[in-house]
Amino acid sequence: MNTTAEVPIIATRNITKRFAGVVALDDVSLDIKEGELHAIVGENGAGKSTLMKILSGVLTEFDGDFLLRGQSVRLSGTRAAERAGVSIIHQELNLVEQLSAAANIFLGRELRTRFGLLDNAAMKRAVTELLGQLECHISPDTQAGTLRVGDQQLVEIAKALSLRATILIMDEPTSALTKGEVERLFRVIERLRQRGVTILYISHKMDEIFRLADRITVLRDGRHVETVHRSDTTPRRVTHAMVGREIEEAQHHDSRIPGDVLLEVRNLSLAWPGHARKWRLENISLTLQRGEILGIAGLMGAGRTELLECLFGAATEPIRGEILLRGRPMAFRHPAEARAAGVAMVTEDRKRLGLFSQLKVRENMTICTLEDAARFGIVRHAIEAKSASECATRLSLRSAGIEAPIMSLSGGNQQKAIIGRWLLTRPDVLLLDDPTRGIDVGAKAELYRLMHQLCRQGIGIIVTSSELPELLTVSDRILVLCEGRQTGEFARHEATEQLIMEAAIQRN
Ligand SMILES: Nc1ncnc2c1ncn2[C@@H]1O[C@H](COP(=O)(O)OP(=O)(O)OP(=O)(O)O)[C@@H](O)[C@H]1O
Ligand SMILES: [Mg+2]
Repeated sequence: MNTTAEVPIIATRNITKRFAGVVALDDVSLDIKEGELHAIVGENGAGKSTLMKILSGVLTEFDGDFLLRGQSVRLSGTRAAERAGVSIIHQELNLVEQLSAAANIFLGRELRTRFGLLDNAAMKRAVTELLGQLECHISPDTQAGTLRVGDQQLVEIAKALSLRATILIMDEPTSALTKGEVERLFRVIERLRQRGVTILYISHKMDEIFRLADRITVLRDGRHVETVHRSDTTPRRVTHAMVGREIEEAQHHDSRIPGDVLLEVRNLSLAWPGHARKWRLENISLTLQRGEILGIAGLMGAGRTELLECLFGAATEPIRGEILLRGRPMAFRHPAEARAAGVAMVTEDRKRLGLFSQLKVRENMTICTLEDAARFGIVRHAIEAKSASECATRLSLRSAGIEAPIMSLSGGNQQKAIIGRWLLTRPDVLLLDDPTRGIDVGAKAELYRLMHQLCRQGIGIIVTSSELPELLTVSDRILVLCEGRQTGEFARHEATEQLIMEAAIQRN
């Protein structure tokens, strides 16, 4: 085979990266072998994304060295990295929302006709072919911003494929995908491996890592803890190396006793103009009691997010049917009205719907509660800061402090800040759309505990998750959606993954 097989395709030598106030990477030396799938794991804020950004030319300022196929390199930016065969699919999706899928894929290297004009037809053909390889069937003309997160991620992957990357970095690629889509992605990854592509794969999901990885590197607090062969370790050992302690298994808390009916939904329907399926949601009825967690299961496109959006006054179309909150009919026209009535929602896509990227951590957390802090006419800075930092501690949010810019936080910690924002509004009904997406094992356990605590205080929670075991663990009841319709409802003791999946793929 290849005589250069002994030379690592990537080698980092004593890489240190400091941001104001934080050492994100501390003397990291690591070898990546050609053709391997190398998983990088670690808690939120461990430095995974930072290392990947260095390898892909996103961050160009750092101490230490980085060798590509044995040659020391200084990448001047992402273009240089792409030319060297390194592509990255970012954790936070990176598409230009106003442009079509095709335009995004060919951004900056558009195909041209021999007359120098944009060759839209050729680009569309290429994109259709690429998306086809990913078994993704959207039109290349679709505006990226209108795509759901899952499809956006596939467009990013298509872009990397089109660059013919020999080293592909995937930063939490499955965080927004459903089971079926994950399987599809794994098939794509398998094909890439057969072609000899080296893959660096970041994930918080142990099952994925143990299924895919040849070797696993653990980072903790910016330091390289260990690199091990998958066959020489276990998920438990890896988790231990990540957090430096044992994590208790998530377990259902049986001590909750649901109270009065808090929310009732009767025959809720949401139209889908211009679509073959006329309804995004059709005749949904549900109840939520105080102290209860209702899980919503379904595949991507089943209507989980849309359902929560309807309850939060954020639906794209006027809704039909009735929503009763504490027995009173409600017709929220805007999330602000829902909020005022005691309904809060943590959205699935924090970048698009949740984060104020120009603001600080504190401001992002308190933006919905400013009226509380302003009760005496001025924003009571001290109160605001106190509640934000208490909440940050509860969520074990890692940052250089609550005055740090929100964009300086790692992805998982940004998610925690958004969850914190809604907890601070002290809602009656809390809607959580895939809240543990991208947060590490320790923080997940923390969030489950918090949800349980909130329920004991009498709030009701509706939660969706792309991970069924998680939904089975936290929910008292699970409602299953399939293509906008309600195809099953299970009490906790009768729900199984099998039953839920059957209901989720039921047709007609
Ligand atoms: N642009 C930045 N400015 C300041 N600090 C930053 C910046 N980017 C990252 N950091 C800090 O560097 C550390 C490592 O962040 P990084 O994003 O690499 O973590 P991560 O391992 O990818 O975590 P996650 O699992 O949450 O995505 C964190 O403490 C983070 O706050
Ligand atoms: Mg990250």
